[in-house]
Amino acid sequence: MRTQVGILGAGPAGLTLAMLLHREDIDCVVLETRDRAYVEKRVRAGLLEQNTVDLLRELGVAERLDREGLEHNGIYLRHGGVNHYIDMTALTGRHITIYGQQEVVKDLTNALLSRGVPIHFEVGETNLHDLESESPRITYEREGEILELTCDAIAGCDGFHGVSRPTIGEHLTEYEYVYPFGWLGILAEARPATDELIYAWHERGFALYTMRSQSISRLYLQVPADEDIENWPDDRIWHELKTRLGSVNEGKIFDKGITPMRSFVAEPMQYGRLFLAGDSAHIVPPTGAKGLNLAVNDVRLLAPALAGLIKNGSTRRADGYTTAALRRVWRAQDFSNYMTQMLHDLGGGPFQRQLQLARLGYVAHSEAAAHSLAENYVGLPAEPEF
Ligand code: FAD
Ligand code: DHB
Repeated sequence: MRTQVGILGAGPAGLTLAMLLHREDIDCVVLETRDRAYVEKRVRAGLLEQNTVDLLRELGVAERLDREGLEHNGIYLRHGGVNHYIDMTALTGRHITIYGQQEVVKDLTNALLSRGVPIHFEVGETNLHDLESESPRITYEREGEILELTCDAIAGCDGFHGVSRPTIGEHLTEYEYVYPFGWLGILAEARPATDELIYAWHERGFALYTMRSQSISRLYLQVPADEDIENWPDDRIWHELKTRLGSVNEGKIFDKGITPMRSFVAEPMQYGRLFLAGDSAHIVPPTGAKGLNLAVNDVRLLAPALAGLIKNGSTRRADGYTTAALRRVWRAQDFSNYMTQMLHDLGGGPFQRQLQLARLGYVAHSEAAAHSLAENYVGLPAEPEF
């Protein structure tokens, strides 16, 4: 079989790339190891930058997002039992939207299949070959058969645990920091007790109050990295959330899990005709809500690079892909690290806590500091100068 771009992974990066390529009349095939139901149910991020929403609108896949997404104008930073409002829209003229990642994935999957773009779920044994040639290949197993897909280029959108990055590992420099804590996240059938998201600093650790709708709350608690979810019966979760967040509405918990936290960047994001995008190339701690947004931004840059390569044989944009993408990735790494360090119990004792409170007080009361936080949080321009 032959296609122009073979895409590994039906997450936000792979699916958005497929839509962008389809718009350019470039053929692609998406290969995904999991089944469709699993991918569409996997609960992860929920906060979309305006850049991301604008791109989904441009691609004609935002009809449900526009109907069901919750527009937000700011966040509360909570410390000392008081919520301090950061009015992002007043500071930047932009806003953010709450809409679950799995809903974005559903909308993109439906749009692609209805346009006849193939997505093959439940493939196995994906292997990449001839990446230095102009005809790289993917071999994979599907329904017991070994198949081969010859491409002009391959997009490795297969997440942090995929095959793309390890295949070219010897050509990459990797930067990594693993945090000694993770997030316990729940979804509950409960009306959110807040109008905007609350990022809470507390002596017992960080907590985040977010939501999915007027009747579904999403809440997170900082827990030790090696924590076992079995140690967290529902009563303990609610008790801890109330301690750290103040007022919380309880309801039936229907999803809970623990996510480890790391910062990771692989460089370059290209080897031969394989291009990495999204979590396969970089991970940020979730405190800045940047993971999904970065994945979408990578493919915003990658699509024209692939179009240049395939339509005109021009390598100009492809050669610049790593530099353009990584500039934004490192900015997001810094912002995510800043939010993480400001809000979590880092184990540094009273001195560190006082530094965090000084920083929080500054952001809450200085417009210059709040402005800096806000412009990063709502999302920088698609291709910033810095
Ligand atoms: P993914 O969404 O990981 O998609 C990669 C896809 O590739 C997957 O569907 C996978 O099944 C598939 N795949 C894997 N291996 C192969 C293979 N060999 N061949 C073909 N397909 C393959 N970000 C936030 O901003 N806020 C959050 O609260 C948040 N919570 C998260 C919770 C968890 C548990 C995780 C793992 C991530 C979370 N993130 C969060 C990060 C955010 O969800 C990711 O940044 C985003 O999913 C990246 O999209 P992606 O398309 O690059 O990768
Ligand atoms: C959500 C997740 C985040 O990591 C964040 O910073 C804000 C919101 C969410 O799941 O809604």
